[in-house]
Amino acid sequence: MTNDEAQRTGDAPLNALVVYFSQTGNTEQVAGAMAAGLAEAGCDAVDLRPIHQVTPDAWLAYRVVGLGTPVFYYHEPAPVRDWIKALVRRPDPVPVFTFNTNGGNPCNTLRRMQKFLAKRGGRVLDSFECWGYDTYPIYLKSFRKWGHPSADDLAAAKAFGRGFVEKARAFHAGRAAPEAAYDFVGGRTFRLSWICRKPFLDRFFPKLHLVPPLCIRCGACAQACPTGNILMQPDPLFLNLCIHCYLCERICPTNAIRCDWRFWTRKMNPDAPPPPAEQSA
Ligand SMILES: Cc1cc2nc3c(=O)[nH]c(=O)nc-3n(C[C@H](O)[C@H](O)[C@H](O)COP(=O)(O)O)c2cc1C
Ligand code: SF4
Ligand code: SF4
Repeated sequence: MTNDEAQRTGDAPLNALVVYFSQTGNTEQVAGAMAAGLAEAGCDAVDLRPIHQVTPDAWLAYRVVGLGTPVFYYHEPAPVRDWIKALVRRPDPVPVFTFNTNGGNPCNTLRRMQKFLAKRGGRVLDSFECWGYDTYPIYLKSFRKWGHPSADDLAAAKAFGRGFVEKARAFHAGRAAPEAAYDFVGGRTFRLSWICRKPFLDRFFPKLHLVPPLCIRCGACAQACPTGNILMQPDPLFLNLCIHCYLCERICPTNAIRCDWRFWTRKMNPDAPPPPAEQSA
């Protein structure tokens, strides 16, 4: 069979790229399970990569693409949105699957990603969602979705990866491979997703404060920040790229980064135990 015939019948080698953004490892685990499923079902090569390692033209070389994200503030976080928007437009559409892990309220995340990807030549045929332990500071102490992704979630993710291979083959062979369809989530959740954008978060959500005497200048916060918002000079300096993920606050080994969570904890998680006094300064 010639290469052209193989492409037409969908029998050409299927190489897959699975890209993910993951701050605390939940989405990364799901991405790994999906990649394993793709490989098991006969993908010829599967590349699994964190988003910051994937250049905007890299996806042109693949015949299956998966993109995974956590849900932050009811949508995909800025690093994921920016990555999709920077993608080099594909001359030929490619079958894509999207996935997310979330704390129970993903709102229109999958629908939004489908729309952004379509503009660059990605055809989203299917998607997957599951819970992931929610480490947002307001919910941290209530252990929301603790234990997720669970073994069952990961088994389902692997099965999803296996199943997607057939969909991709059908797509490349020109057989019916309908796009995924998502109901629009409106109401209060949609209003919140619309409100919780950078200007609102910058203005009303807790600000990061450095307590200089406590900082040992280890650089862990700057290294972990997903947007490069922290410069070591040599003390950490916060720029204007913050997406309010509060990872730096959580991981600082000396508790030198502080935020005042009292107002939002009372509002969003009134049953949580009060924060220790020293963290509410
Ligand atoms: C800054 C932040 C905002 C979040 N916002 C939401 C949200 O709006 N809806 C939701 O369902 N989960 C939300 N979560 C929970 C995460 O989506 C969930 O814990 C996810 O599994 C994290 O994935 P990761 O470990 O790959 O980063 C939020 C978590 C963080 C840290
Ligand atoms: S992680 Fe904490 S101690 Fe380390 S540089 Fe950042 S603020 Fe300083
Ligand atoms: S500065 Fe802190 S809260 Fe802001 S994006 Fe970076 S890690 Fe997240």
